[in-house]
Amino acid sequence: MRKRNTLLGYVAVAGFLTALQVPLALTLTAADVHAGDASPQAHTAMAALDYQRARHHPIHSKPAIDSADDGACLACHTEILGNHVRPQSPAGIHANDTRAWYQSLSTYDGPQLTFHQRHLSTDYARTVMNLKCNFCHQGNDPREEAPSLSEASASEPTFTLRKHVNPEQTCLLCHGAMPDPKIMGLPGPWTEARAMFENEHQPNGCLVCHATAFRTRRHEVSYLNAAAIEDLAEASSDVCYGCHGGRAWYRIAYPYARTPWPGMADETPAWARDRPTHSAARYRRDVSE
Ligand code: HEC
Ligand code: HEC
Ligand code: HEC
Ligand code: HEC
Ligand code: HEC
Repeated sequence: MRKRNTLLGYVAVAGFLTALQVPLALTLTAADVHAGDASPQAHTAMAALDYQRARHHPIHSKPAIDSADDGACLACHTEILGNHVRPQSPAGIHANDTRAWYQSLSTYDGPQLTFHQRHLSTDYARTVMNLKCNFCHQGNDPREEAPSLSEASASEPTFTLRKHVNPEQTCLLCHGAMPDPKIMGLPGPWTEARAMFENEHQPNGCLVCHATAFRTRRHEVSYLNAAAIEDLAEASSDVCYGCHGGRAWYRIAYPYARTPWPGMADETPAWARDRPTHSAARYRRDVSE
């Protein structure tokens, strides 16, 4: 209990300081710097805060971060999308001549970019996804970046050690391993199995099964552009594979919600018994409507 009180007190103090500072600086009220206020004046006021007040602005924590729009974050963090990869490192290595393997794939389009640009501002990212700052940044307390097994989160710390985002609830969704080939009835890993499903008339083998037979209700979430994904995927299974194994940074697959689809069998297979039947409520949207 003690820890929680300290935390709440800390947020309250930060809020109080903000309230004091803002009218002095820009004759705006504290309400104007409320995270949900997307007005340009509120953004200007936030950007004018001194370092400590900005650093500890309550917008960084729950609950304010849940309703923060990207503009509010970018009012202070222009570096996130504005800073570009150096064309040449201080040691003289040219960015264009040094590529990681994944940057040599057809899905990695154009010159090297920063991590944030790749997810938020490239043409590809904006076509298939609709990520917001607070999709990944769900509110970490800078003093609580080490997981604490407090009573609030007895079995499951909300953050992984010294991370600003929780990779299991964010990255893993699109960078997990390909789901177990056995549940799909595939003879082996996709790299080997795909030859059985694809030819020049059928460039996307995933759709042999996923166009009409299995899990046809998918991507009904606000952070993905479901229709654009299906359009692009007609040309190549690499579009699908790109988020379901092809860019895997993890050896495990994300345990996706199993949204009921038309023609689904009544019986739930053993591997799916613990699965939710709908996407996370926070992001859900019914694209078929
Ligand atoms: C009032 C200005 C301001 C606003 C608005 C703001 N930040 Fe910050 N943020 C800062 C400052 C200053 C720091 C400290 C930077 C440093 O020390 O280099 C910081 C640090 C961070 C960090 C590093 C945190 C850590 O634990 O080390 C993250 C991540 C971050 N901000 C994300 C966000 C997100 C996401 C939003 C929008 C929801 C946001 N910020 C809104 C000013 C702001
Ligand atoms: C795809 C997930 C994702 C999205 C979307 C995202 N971030 Fe981040 N951000 C990260 C990760 C991962 C880090 C590194 C975290 C760490 O080191 O623990 C990071 C780091 C940061 C930092 C710390 C400074 C740095 O460069 O390491 C700031 C500030 C920040 N992000 C702001 C933002 C803002 C503002 C937005 C929206 C415009 C945003 N982020 C969108 C994942 C994301
Ligand atoms: C909603 C899906 C989605 C989520 C969530 C997501 N990514 Fe990505 N990520 C992508 C896509 C799509 C690309 C390919 C972009 C391209 O090639 O233009 C990508 C590319 C990357 C790259 C390679 C590009 C580069 O910057 O060099 C890295 C590394 C990466 N993601 C790490 C992460 C991490 C770490 C997280 C969690 C903080 C994360 N991603 C969350 C979809 C996602
Ligand atoms: C031979 C048919 C077949 C092919 C080809 C196929 N899948 Fe599947 N896939 C299935 C079946 C069957 C399921 C499980 C259906 C269920 O939930 O009962 C499944 C499930 C999935 C799931 C959900 C896994 C989970 O854990 O909930 C994803 C994601 C998926 N497939 C993506 C793909 C992608 C991407 C490709 C192509 C790279 C692909 N599939 C190719 C038949 C196939
Ligand atoms: C930009 C990344 C991205 C791309 C591209 C993508 N997926 Fe997904 N997919 C996801 C995410 C994230 C989820 C989980 C969404 C949710 O929670 O509802 C998901 C969920 C699924 C599911 C489980 C759906 C459910 O609710 O039962 C299947 C099956 C699936 N994808 C297949 C595919 C196929 C087939 C393609 C190509 C046509 C594809 N995906 C392309 C990111 C992607």
